[in-house]
Amino acid sequence: MCGIVGVVGNTNATDILIQGLEKLEYRGYDSAGIFVLGGAENHLVKAVGRIAELSAKTAGVEGTTGIGHTRWATHGKPTEDNAHPHRSETGRFVLVHNGVIENYLEIKEEYLAGHHFKGQTDTEIAVHLIGKFAEEDGLSVLEAFKKALHIIRGSYAFALIDSENPDVIYVAKNKSPLLIGLGDGYNMVCSDAMAMIRETNQYMEIHDQELVIVKADSVEVQDYDGNSRERASYTAELDLSDIGKGTYPYYMLKEIDEQPTVMRKLIQAYTDEAGQVVVDPAIIKAVQDADRIYILAAGTSYHAGFASKKMLEELTDTPVELGISSEWGYGMPLLSKKPLFIFISQSGETADSRQVLVKANEMGIPSLTVTNVPGSTLSREANHTMLLHAGPEIAVASTKAYTAQIAALAFLAKAVGQANGNAKAQAFDLVHELSIVAQSIESTLSEKETIEAKVRELLETTRNAFYIGRGQDYYVAMEASLKLKEISYIQCEGFAAGELKHGTIALIEEGTPVLALLSDPVLANHTRGNIQEVAARGAKVLTIAEENVAKDTDDIVLTTVHPYLSPISMVVPTQLVAYFATLHRGLDVDKPRNLAKSVTVE
Ligand code: M6R
Repeated sequence: MCGIVGVVGNTNATDILIQGLEKLEYRGYDSAGIFVLGGAENHLVKAVGRIAELSAKTAGVEGTTGIGHTRWATHGKPTEDNAHPHRSETGRFVLVHNGVIENYLEIKEEYLAGHHFKGQTDTEIAVHLIGKFAEEDGLSVLEAFKKALHIIRGSYAFALIDSENPDVIYVAKNKSPLLIGLGDGYNMVCSDAMAMIRETNQYMEIHDQELVIVKADSVEVQDYDGNSRERASYTAELDLSDIGKGTYPYYMLKEIDEQPTVMRKLIQAYTDEAGQVVVDPAIIKAVQDADRIYILAAGTSYHAGFASKKMLEELTDTPVELGISSEWGYGMPLLSKKPLFIFISQSGETADSRQVLVKANEMGIPSLTVTNVPGSTLSREANHTMLLHAGPEIAVASTKAYTAQIAALAFLAKAVGQANGNAKAQAFDLVHELSIVAQSIESTLSEKETIEAKVRELLETTRNAFYIGRGQDYYVAMEASLKLKEISYIQCEGFAAGELKHGTIALIEEGTPVLALLSDPVLANHTRGNIQEVAARGAKVLTIAEENVAKDTDDIVLTTVHPYLSPISMVVPTQLVAYFATLHRGLDVDKPRNLAKSVTVE
């Protein structure tokens, strides 16, 4: 989704902005732009398409201060006119914005009669409003910005420049992420730490409804009424080498390959020196105090919630319900008397989930965020956080975060169950079982060539496909189908195998690919029956089976793992299926159309 980067007081401003925008590319965007000042003249450069196209237009663009933006279109098509930065009526004020301004049409009508707009964005209206207050009504820049912030409703991260003053960037945020980066003799602003990690690992958080005056040698945080707020800086634990692709052609393949290492990192993070599982006692107590766990998430993270449900219920003796964040944000169902909300989110920034968390906080419901990003919004605003320790996930298609989410929840389930004296939890040797999972993944990864050949034959040209499975395999089928559709654009659905005959089997015709997942000894026999049914109607079937249920005819056979953890190892071949299908269809694996890595608008 949209990204912001800004720098004040560095003679390499253009390079810093372009490199920062390149680091934000993974989030998904369709156009980009920069505004640079502090040199011989001011420059506004925009381009539709990739950062490379923007970069090609920046020869001779020099200055000390600037703001840049990658836009993921919400209001108006991806055109240069709609790309940020946007300018005020006279061109004096320049603004980049992430988020959605809800009352932009009312603002236009009430305040901006006679103004001329180049595009259709809500952002252009915001910068015209600031410009009106400063230039037509005579307010100082700060007063004009504050006045606009009191009027604007919605989600935003703003970075504003007065083109007559290269010494300051003004920023403000509400419900959209934004950080300050502290450099040596200069400072930065950014919506994602990734874009600044090359320059600095010293960051400062901005809270909602705060305004920050960023200069080369100072950073001043205020509320919208001008009261100063103290803010300490912190050191980010990001490593520059973590965000490179290395020798891999795509981030997605690198991230798939990292999964055994992530499993081992999680073991290190959640065990003590004696190998005993260790989870924050306050988190264990929060689960013990709850009469029901509600898991809220979106997309792949939602699927990880399903894959963890049985394990959480059996080991913690607490019922688990799943909710789609975008549905719950506007309508909470009847809750139990002592609910605990668990938010699963790789990025920790998903606006739909945050909407639910804000409501949960208002209602006094305790919450835990399971996330990959320390200090992310969902982490800061929930009562507790468990980290995934998966390292940055750059590819839009989430892979290692899904497996890490299930593994992290396994540590939670085990720790609570053990504290409660639950017999299954005591017998569940999680560290050992997770080591077997890591080995199982490694063995699947060593079969890439075989998987690629089968995928090519089955999926290179098809329009649609189906994943089927029962029990835990059904949950993996949901995730596997999302992975395949989001990057290969093959229309794919994941079904509970038993449901096929209740409607979906009507879609099976000669050559329809059906991928069947088999791990549970009892359920596998039933799924095999369903495989016969689709094969009899012409489906081309590919089976992925764990050794304990495998037959000689199965296409991909996986090492058997503990049933609670089987969604982790079972999903890996399906990630490779999606990867190779996309590769052979000639598409960009890491940057699928229309999608963003971090979905920061509702
Ligand atoms: O950052 P989150 O885990 O909250 O993101 C949720 C979804 O947007 C995300 O999982 C999405 O479905 C991925 N593109 C799936 O690969």
